[in-house]
Amino acid sequence: MTATQRKILVTSALPYANGPIHLGHMLEYIQTDIWVRFQKLRGHNCTYVCADDAHGTAIMLKAEQLGRTPEEQIAVVKAEHERDFAAFLVGFDNYHSTHSDENRHFSNLIYARNRDKGYIVAREITQLFDPEKQMFLADRFVKGTCPKCGTADQYGDNCEACGATYAASELKDPRSTISGATPVLKANTQLFFDLPKFDGMLKEWTRSGRLQEGIANKLAEWLEAGLQQWDISREAPYFGFEIPDHPGKHFYVWLDAPIGYMASFENLCARRPDLKFDDYWGKDSTAELYHFIGKDIINFHGLFWPAMLTGADFRTPTAIFSHGFVTVNGAKMSKSRGTFIKAETYLRHLNPEYLRYYFAAKLSGHIDDIDLNLEDFAQRVNADLVNKVVNIASRSAGFIAKQGGKLSAHNAEPDLLAEAQGKAAVIADFYEQREFGKAMREIMAIADKANQYIDEKAPWALAKQPGKEQEVLDVCTVGINLFRLLVIYLKPVLPKLAAETEAFLKVAPFHWEDVNNLLLDHAINTFKPLMQRVDMKQIEALIEDGKTEAAAEAPAKPKTALDADPVAPVISFDEFAKVDIRVAKIVAAGHVAGADKLLQLTLDIGGETRNVFAGIKSAYQPEDLVGKLTVMVANLAPRKMKFGMSEGMVLAAGPGGKDIFILEPDSGAIPGMRVK
Ligand code: 2FM
Ligand code: ZN
Repeated sequence: MTATQRKILVTSALPYANGPIHLGHMLEYIQTDIWVRFQKLRGHNCTYVCADDAHGTAIMLKAEQLGRTPEEQIAVVKAEHERDFAAFLVGFDNYHSTHSDENRHFSNLIYARNRDKGYIVAREITQLFDPEKQMFLADRFVKGTCPKCGTADQYGDNCEACGATYAASELKDPRSTISGATPVLKANTQLFFDLPKFDGMLKEWTRSGRLQEGIANKLAEWLEAGLQQWDISREAPYFGFEIPDHPGKHFYVWLDAPIGYMASFENLCARRPDLKFDDYWGKDSTAELYHFIGKDIINFHGLFWPAMLTGADFRTPTAIFSHGFVTVNGAKMSKSRGTFIKAETYLRHLNPEYLRYYFAAKLSGHIDDIDLNLEDFAQRVNADLVNKVVNIASRSAGFIAKQGGKLSAHNAEPDLLAEAQGKAAVIADFYEQREFGKAMREIMAIADKANQYIDEKAPWALAKQPGKEQEVLDVCTVGINLFRLLVIYLKPVLPKLAAETEAFLKVAPFHWEDVNNLLLDHAINTFKPLMQRVDMKQIEALIEDGKTEAAAEAPAKPKTALDADPVAPVISFDEFAKVDIRVAKIVAAGHVAGADKLLQLTLDIGGETRNVFAGIKSAYQPEDLVGKLTVMVANLAPRKMKFGMSEGMVLAAGPGGKDIFILEPDSGAIPGMRVK
């Protein structure tokens, strides 16, 4: 325990519940986790919470595409996120969801307190309205032609072709994706957070040493340009919390997202009596509160969030630590190049500690982007971790085992060991400042010295000389002690290697202060290889995997059964034999928002259900299909369509229009039965 134990609460940004974690995300969780593990290793009372960011239109639409309820969608994704974080050794003290009771409570409370102080104002604005459905349309429910570049079929908030952001009312030829009708502009009242009232507070807050300099300068520009009121309400349909005093309106996802930090902490407090919510979030809290975020979301964390907290009588963060983006091989992560790498895909090929180390070696306290150069990655991991650090143990351990497995009682190299121990303060300082790259360089300099020492002493040569047993044991004991110090220094980055080293050395889990001791006259276990070299072949396989996944997810060509090429190529019997045709029962059917030919079908093929988009809308109402039998190709590779994943193809026949035929329910066929 250090003399003054600090009370620290740390968060990483909450990932959206509409997609998988990828290596771009992992930079932040690895950075935060290293910092948190460092604080814990030093004996501080540090708590790390996170959650899934579960609200908003994007998640609602994703659920719809996948034929799930939003609740099902967020549960599935949360489990996947937690699995990936755990595999990367990210040690959250709690992982919660913004779609939770705690978050509803704090969102309502923060809203009500701000409202009661006059910081929430209702204002009339004009918004797009669907005249057929009689509803206001969220940006994502409007599509049209980009006002900037003219690309058709773009959402109401931003253009996927040119990246422009705009108001939905600026789209050319807008249409409602719900009814297809042309929306009209209509006046509507929305709720705004009165950010300009916090101008003075924010000018001071952003200059009080809580932000990196570049970030503070950026915010100063925005503050100079003048703050705008912030629209915090969204019309139904919206997946989020309904605003208590405005039925039908919901809190905008970015209002309740950062409140998710509080909610996750409160959820943890319920099972950790040692943690008290008010000690951390109360106005007079003396605890330290840090948010790690990407530089793209600084407006929310550096302006809206401290203002909302102040308006609601909560404390503001001690500091916000922003980082840059990840590039791979010098370019933006790309699906077609196979470099848009999901956490899960990486883990199928490579050890998570390699990436933790590589990111650590490249991270600083600044917001520069971090390039994951895959060749450099392999070289760095092999050179530093395998050839330098682990090699020290493997070069020393065998000779100790030969002499009974006990370290010498004698410190044969006090100066060298003292020098390595003496680096603790500078390394700790670098960790504290998030200068992990500098910390890694200090640590590797010690590893270089350790290897030089072993090279000079050459225990393998000494071991051949009679009477040199004690000298061999002394040299190797120095080697093992240097290795132990290196692993203590690296423990925040390499927690698994550290745990395996603790087992190898038969010692209790390391604390930072353990660098002050040496391990002498102590029995150790036999050495097992602690880390394998990275092979470029593994990296090539990873990239190939990334490409295959991206191809499987690529939007399908706009082709349905009805659009099939009339001149189909002749296929061999063997090719035909591969097609698995099954009887399928239609257990659910529905319209697909924005699709004029497709229906979405849930097909039962005997204990397994499939989601399939079929071009049969001209012939059937969804309700007429439920309960009917059809025939499907069951082994067609899943295809990502614009509307979601299609997991097979329905075989319907007929000239088209109203005449497309599927089997009747009384045909006697059993779902799942093979047709050929
Ligand atoms: O940008 C994002 O991915 C958001 N989901 C981050 C939210 S961080 C916090 F405010 F919740
Ligand atoms: Zn555009």
